[in-house]
Amino acid sequence: MNPTSRSSLPTPSGGAFPDSFVWGAATAAYQIEGAWNEDGKGPSVWDMMCRKPGAVFRNHTGDVACDHYHRHREDVAIMRQIGLQAYRFSVSWPRVLPDGTGCLNEAGLAFYDRLVDDLLEAGIEPYLTLFHWDFPLALYQRGGWLNADSPHWFSEYAALLGRRLGDRVKHWITLNEPQCFTGLGHIQGLHAPGDKLETGQVLRLVHHSLVAHGRAVQALREVCRQPVKIGISLTSQVCVPATDAVADIEAARESYFAVDAGLFCVSMWGDPIYLGRFPEQASARFPGKIPEVSAEQWKIIREPLDFLGSNIYSATKFTRTADGKAHGLDKPAGNPVGSLGWLELEPDALYWAARFQSERYGRLPFLVTENGFCGLDWMARDGKVHDPQRIDFVARYLEGLRRAVAENIPLAGYFYWSLLDNFEWAEGYRPRFGLVHVDYETQARTLKDSALWYKTVIASGGSDL
Ligand code: GCO
Repeated sequence: MNPTSRSSLPTPSGGAFPDSFVWGAATAAYQIEGAWNEDGKGPSVWDMMCRKPGAVFRNHTGDVACDHYHRHREDVAIMRQIGLQAYRFSVSWPRVLPDGTGCLNEAGLAFYDRLVDDLLEAGIEPYLTLFHWDFPLALYQRGGWLNADSPHWFSEYAALLGRRLGDRVKHWITLNEPQCFTGLGHIQGLHAPGDKLETGQVLRLVHHSLVAHGRAVQALREVCRQPVKIGISLTSQVCVPATDAVADIEAARESYFAVDAGLFCVSMWGDPIYLGRFPEQASARFPGKIPEVSAEQWKIIREPLDFLGSNIYSATKFTRTADGKAHGLDKPAGNPVGSLGWLELEPDALYWAARFQSERYGRLPFLVTENGFCGLDWMARDGKVHDPQRIDFVARYLEGLRRAVAENIPLAGYFYWSLLDNFEWAEGYRPRFGLVHVDYETQARTLKDSALWYKTVIASGGSDL
């Protein structure tokens, strides 16, 4: 069957985004802060990874990154200039607990204290991610996520931040993309810590990360001095139907929640957290290796959350073939793509992810914790950074999300990835995702055309795309 071309599908017509819908941008500590060993910060597994020759493009490191640690006030002013309503950032665990547990580093905590105060003063709601991959090296050397104490270590870290910042931070995300730090970091070895574990060990890591997530939710609910909203940021390749035919929709839904051998799938974390069980396919996929989870641990893992957080960039179209199987289709030749090959334009991704997750996990508000476009942007001769592809990319994805609005799928907000060009993990500084261009030689920030465009989108509540 020929893949249905985009033009033959109905143009999503949707309503206005709800007033409660929050418009933001996201970053992560290791990708922007720099100051990798300043003011008492301990090393992370990414500081270690960047020192493995060849692990990162041209051996780039996050040693300096966007120097956000020293330029955070300038960056908050830029957020205010863009008109962000919210800012999603992560805390560097080893910056506040240099050994990952035990003695805290006051200078590190003071940095986040100042950041939160500056955000609130600028009228920007802080969304805090506890863990965005920069695991403390000292704890990795004690077994890392494989250590059965890791949930306790993580809950201790969460409680520390909840006590210090919970009076001002109302929105928390426990883990960013467990699928990635598990798969890329511990199966493929392409991300920190660069391990290639066998299946049983990886599933033990999944188990501990699930319990760690739940323990952190419990800790935050206990210590924060105000009601807080908590979630997790899951990711996977989204599966969307090639057409709106029921068979294609069913094929896409079935594929979206399938259990991937490399664990790059929503359901291995989503089903335990929202449904209290591993996905049916898991035992067939990993016979005899699914971890034993006690009743007490299931209660911890299932701690109720306040939103469905998801990082979404691209999707694969699926159709039901004559043999009844769900079949993923290749993109048409020449399909628009970012400077990273995996980032292919698929504007239906946000709608279908929101719809499928709302159907499966209950009608918690769906929060796009990341969506963005990577280009090879540069400063033009006129001193500006023109990025029409990024504008078109985001406009199409938001148009797709409008369909969810029209169908009353509860939506909480949208965080563009990323505020700044930054360190893109193993790709180093080559791809640029930012609304704001960073000259890494001078650290000069320049708002791209997309930042000025996003300002108008936010001001219009999403009606001007
Ligand atoms: C991720 C991470 C971000 C990436 C971004 C672009 O989703 O991989 O959360 O840190 O930089 O998604 O790949």
